[in-house]
Amino acid sequence: MSISEQDLVNFHESLDRASSSGKFMDVFYDGFIASSIDVEMIFKDTDMDRLKRKLKSSLHMMTMLVDNEPGTEMYVGHLARVHDRYNIPAEMFNVWMDLLIEAVRVCDQEFDVRTENIWREVIGRGIAIMTQGADAKVIEAV
Ligand code: HEM
Repeated sequence: MSISEQDLVNFHESLDRASSSGKFMDVFYDGFIASSIDVEMIFKDTDMDRLKRKLKSSLHMMTMLVDNEPGTEMYVGHLARVHDRYNIPAEMFNVWMDLLIEAVRVCDQEFDVRTENIWREVIGRGIAIMTQGADAKVIEAV
């Protein structure tokens, strides 16, 4: 799927609707942390309130990455390095995406198949870049 400008507008609208529900990040992280003992252990020392605030910004950042906005590759490079420290298996990123979409489904009243496809495409690209290795990301995303 290629992403049009309209798709990016719709992604932001969906993200805004989900965020304004006031429970989007809670639904997502509650589900993700409950998905396995391994995930629970990874987050055992994390300040979750702080992480929830950061994740919301990073989701906006993912669309800027897809839109080839200059400078975003540096942020994604930073994210990649943060995650590289935890040796996260590829499968965990799939679970992460499925549960994020599930949280959007719960929190965005206008969620439909088209919205889901846009989320999968945007986040899928972000994950692909994040998981290629921290050094590769900065170069690849330019
Ligand atoms: C595209 C997918 C993901 C995005 C956009 C994302 C986003 C973020 C962001 C924005 C941060 C904060 C970075 C900072 O401190 O500057 C973070 C930290 C973190 N993420 Fe992710 N994440 C993703 C996938 C995952 C997955 C699959 C895991 C698996 C468990 C994970 C585990 C963590 C951990 C452990 C931290 C550090 C928490 C801490 O500071 O204690 N993330 N993530």
